[in-house]
Amino acid sequence: MIWTWESVQEAASAIQARVPFRPEIGIVLGTGLGALVDQVERTGTVPYAEIPRFPRPTVEGHAGELVLGFLEGKPVAVLRGRTHLYEGYSPQEVAFPVRVLHALGCRLLVVTNAAGGLNREWRAGDLMVISDHINLQATNPLLGPNDERLGPRFPDMSRAYDPELVALAERCALEERIPLRKGVYVAVLGPSYETPAELRMLRLLGADAVGMSTVPEVIAARHLGMRVLGISAITDMATGEVVQPVTHEEVLRVARDLEPRFVRLVRRIVREMVL
Ligand code: HPA
Repeated sequence: MIWTWESVQEAASAIQARVPFRPEIGIVLGTGLGALVDQVERTGTVPYAEIPRFPRPTVEGHAGELVLGFLEGKPVAVLRGRTHLYEGYSPQEVAFPVRVLHALGCRLLVVTNAAGGLNREWRAGDLMVISDHINLQATNPLLGPNDERLGPRFPDMSRAYDPELVALAERCALEERIPLRKGVYVAVLGPSYETPAELRMLRLLGADAVGMSTVPEVIAARHLGMRVLGISAITDMATGEVVQPVTHEEVLRVARDLEPRFVRLVRRIVREMVL
């Protein structure tokens, strides 16, 4: 049971022993969105391999590291590299790093991801602030016995994505002149991309973007009472009218192209966040 309160404390203590630093904002960087980490004035870096029980990404180019320091003057902890359910990790393992961020001191969480656009009005390269999500992963990080020290048995999800943070993101985007969409993120298991019939279904369900991450972390964060902001990079249009099949390479290429805009937006939001 790697998701016990004790194991979360053990991981947090190991990090604090290496880097005595109290972050207040946790940031999870999604596929192809790693460049934000270069903007952090580093106090210290801890490779995931050196944190007890920390799950390690199997797909991205590097093994993953936790970067601690200041971004726009705010104390942050950045998870560079995340794990997904499709890698074979349990939802509790996928959510474990977020619980550790909370134990370190983070009360705010910024989750980011690459996602396919379902909304026909949108284009690849758009940025979206997440207003809500649909969990179609058929699993949940809170399955199993509940530890009240982490949160309640039946946590509320009516305001999973903090409305004030959504409004802050929209204001920052306006001031930075960065177009920003707002919509519903649906999480699927992957790793296969969706069929055209599945994409039609997801759009009918009311989703604007589809991806394979984020939801386990957000559920765990809300369980802990953290305030959450979610930002998706729309890396391909997943409308079901197949012009060109989506590939991981294309997702990475579009993410790289939009990365400067993404970095500018997140920096501005972090600068304006009231802790
Ligand atoms: N589908 C699911 N996950 C994704 C996609 C997609 O089209 N693009 C990026 N992540």
